[in-house]
Amino acid sequence: MKRVWTTPQGQYFSLYRDMLKQPHLLIAGATGSGKSVVINGLVYTALYDSPAAVQFILIDPKRVELVDYKPLPHTVQYASEPGKMVQALEKAMEITETRYRAMQAQRVKKYSGAALYVIIDELADLMTTDRRHVQPLLQRLAQIGRAANVHIIAATQCPLAAVIPTPIKVNFDARVALRTRSAQDSRNILGVKGCELLPRYGQGYYMTPDGLTLYNIPMQDPASVKTMLDYWKRQKPRLKWR
Ligand SMILES: Nc1ncnc2c1ncn2[C@@H]1O[C@H](COP(=O)(O)OP(=O)(O)OP(=O)(O)O)[C@@H](O)[C@H]1O
Ligand SMILES: [Mg+2]
Repeated sequence: MKRVWTTPQGQYFSLYRDMLKQPHLLIAGATGSGKSVVINGLVYTALYDSPAAVQFILIDPKRVELVDYKPLPHTVQYASEPGKMVQALEKAMEITETRYRAMQAQRVKKYSGAALYVIIDELADLMTTDRRHVQPLLQRLAQIGRAANVHIIAATQCPLAAVIPTPIKVNFDARVALRTRSAQDSRNILGVKGCELLPRYGQGYYMTPDGLTLYNIPMQDPASVKTMLDYWKRQKPRLKWR
C-alpha cells in the first residue's frame, strides 16, 4: 500500500472535499476507530455551503450519531425509527426521480442543482431493521443516484457480504478503511489485509478509483463544530424558500 503522510490541518478540507465529490462513500472500521469522526468531518465541511447547494437525509439507527444535525436547514429528513428510515430512503428515491424528470426535460445528463447526501450511520443496523424494503431501495439509489447528484455516505463496523450485498457494495467505489478487527474485515473493505494493523484510531486508508492512500484522519474540534451548527440554526428561520 502506498503511504502518504500529511499534517491534519493542511489536509483537512482537501481530504473531506475530495470524499464529498465521490459518487458514494463507504466508511468501515471497528468500534471506536473513528467512523463517526469521519462523518462529522464530512458534514462540517459540507456546511461551508448553504442549503441551496447541499442537503442531507440523515439515517441514524443508533439514534445518537446524527441527531445534532437534525435542526439544520440543510436537513430534508432525519430518521431513526425503523419505519421512518424506509420512508427516508423512499424520500431520497423520490427526489432522485424528480431530478431525473427535470434532466430529461432539459436534455442534460447530469443534475446541476444541490448535492443530496444520504448519510447512514450504521449501515448494518439499517439493513437488519427491514432488509426486504431497504435493500432494493439502497441498491437502486446507489445505481442511479450519481447523475442526479445524490450521494450515499454509509458507515459500518461490519463490511461482510451478509451485511452489504455485492450489488450494493460494487457501487461504493470510494471507501475509507479505518482500523478493522481482523485481516478478513480489511480484505472485505479494501481487498487487501493491513487495516488490522492501523492504530486504534486516527489513521485510515482512503481508496478511490485513482488509488489507495494512507491518511492521518483529521478531527474537527468541538468548539468550531458548535459555532458552525449555531450559525445555521440561526439562519434557518430566514431561509423561507424551504
Ligand atoms: N481522527 C481522529 N482524531 C482524533 N481522535 C479520534 C479520531 N478518530 C476517533 N477518535 C477518538 O475516538 C473516539 C471514537 O470515535 P468514533 O465515535 O468516531 O468511532 P466509531 O467508529 O464511530 O465507533 P462506533 O462504531 O462505536 O460508532 C472519538 O470520540 C475520538 O475521541
Ligand atoms: Mg460511530
